[in-house]
Amino acid sequence: MSVKARSLPGRKHTTASRAVHVAAILGLVSPAACRDKRLPPPTAVAKDASSSAPAPAPVPVLFGYRFSKRPSAVAMTGLGRKLFFDPELSASRKMSCATCHDPRFAYGPPNELSTQLGGPDLKSPGVRAVPTLRYLSTVPPFSEHHFDEAVDESIDQGPTGGFSWDGRADSAHEQARAPLTSPFEMANDSVESVAARVAQGSYAGEFRQTFGDEIFADPKLAAGAILISFEAFEESPRDFYPYDSRYDAFLRHQVELTPREKRGLALFSAKDKGNCASCHANTVRKGAFPQFTDFGYNAIGVPRNPAIPANKDPSFFDLGLCGPLRTDLQAHKEYCGEFRVPTLRNVLLKRVFFHNGVFHSLEDVLEFYATRDSSPGRWYAKTGVHVEPFDDLPPEYRANVNREPPFGSKPGSRPALTGTEIADLIAFLKTLTDADLVAK
Ligand code: HEC
Ligand code: HEC
Repeated sequence: MSVKARSLPGRKHTTASRAVHVAAILGLVSPAACRDKRLPPPTAVAKDASSSAPAPAPVPVLFGYRFSKRPSAVAMTGLGRKLFFDPELSASRKMSCATCHDPRFAYGPPNELSTQLGGPDLKSPGVRAVPTLRYLSTVPPFSEHHFDEAVDESIDQGPTGGFSWDGRADSAHEQARAPLTSPFEMANDSVESVAARVAQGSYAGEFRQTFGDEIFADPKLAAGAILISFEAFEESPRDFYPYDSRYDAFLRHQVELTPREKRGLALFSAKDKGNCASCHANTVRKGAFPQFTDFGYNAIGVPRNPAIPANKDPSFFDLGLCGPLRTDLQAHKEYCGEFRVPTLRNVLLKRVFFHNGVFHSLEDVLEFYATRDSSPGRWYAKTGVHVEPFDDLPPEYRANVNREPPFGSKPGSRPALTGTEIADLIAFLKTLTDADLVAK
């Protein structure tokens, strides 16, 4: 908890984390820490928690929902956990959130599929790889212009934050609405219809105890209770941000890294080598432990993935920030191809990488970083002998692709990282696995 509380001063105005706001509502951090003026102040609960006088319990308003009873953090977290693992919440009655976000894999996908099958008959493939849900608690709400006082307050860092690969959801509870109703995922017509099912389910009584007896009388309110419970669960430190990897222990000066892991760390940070840390932030800043992402957006130019059925249509392109899934930035052609930098915590447990799941091993990912520009023929489509670099972007957007180290070398030149360096980097990435997920 202290880690999170101390991370607050670095996140001002636009960067105030919505998750922090929820934590404040739940009484986990001080409401003074919650600076996002666009959100209602979490006074009702916080006051209640700290006063010993038997003041009449005010009716709390959480994200605009007025429940007749003040829900406790513990109860909401428990309900969120039940909802998360409940296949009855899907139209197929066979798929829960955990089907795609499996706790054994840091709430990432349990298999090698580039995209998971969902929908009413579990036959509809989506277009994106399933991300891990660990370490999302500090994702700031999406902002097109991000100013970070911990780096340089005067520099516009560009688009930052938001949930999903393109940042189109502003909070975990808003994000929960999407899979519940997405035709590729749990395929319900509305969260209200999910609420009707919960009302008939085995833990309906617990919902009434937590949110008030009348909770199911108003479908909108019941839907709100469901979404808020998901968010409370996803805010649970034990489940979602334990900060107990070997690297965290190293940052706390509790363990030493091996020489190989240290070499990997040095390559990760060196601006002229891996340069990974420039996007996958790896140092303690203002007391906050690193998330291995700056929550910013970049175009890496990953190869097109023929395993995604939508890609059979040569005119279909998933362009991330500029659409087609996200619709509000379509006019911003300079953002086409950009996706949110993912965390690298627990990355060793993954078997699908990048937004389109095109790679299935960490070695391939790193070989790609090392040779994207020196040997493009290894990665991209060819017509005859002609290689088409960045083949998952229409030609007019290929200039958006990042060309800083480890990228930017000339075709035919040496790889940016040798085989040994790649092995060292992987040894370092291995230190990012949380203690409960390290293979025993
Ligand atoms: C069929 C597989 C599937 C199911 C079921 C599913 N998700 Fe997801 N989830 C995804 C995919 C794919 C994405 C990335 C979506 C995107 O970027 O457009 C995602 C993204 C997310 C994110 C954002 C992560 C980030 O990095 O910003 C959250 C939070 C999330 N899901 C929560 C849930 C919850 C809660 C449920 C259950 C109500 C759920 N998911 C069910 C596949 C699934
Ligand atoms: C310019 C910013 C940038 C740099 C530098 C960078 N990355 Fe990334 N990284 C990204 C972005 C953005 C993605 C997601 C791209 C996508 O899916 O289209 C990503 C994805 C990844 C993934 C896949 C994770 C997942 O969950 O799918 C791994 C692994 C990774 N990076 C490791 C590294 C390593 C190791 C280095 C250094 C050799 C590095 N990155 C350098 C921005 C960067």
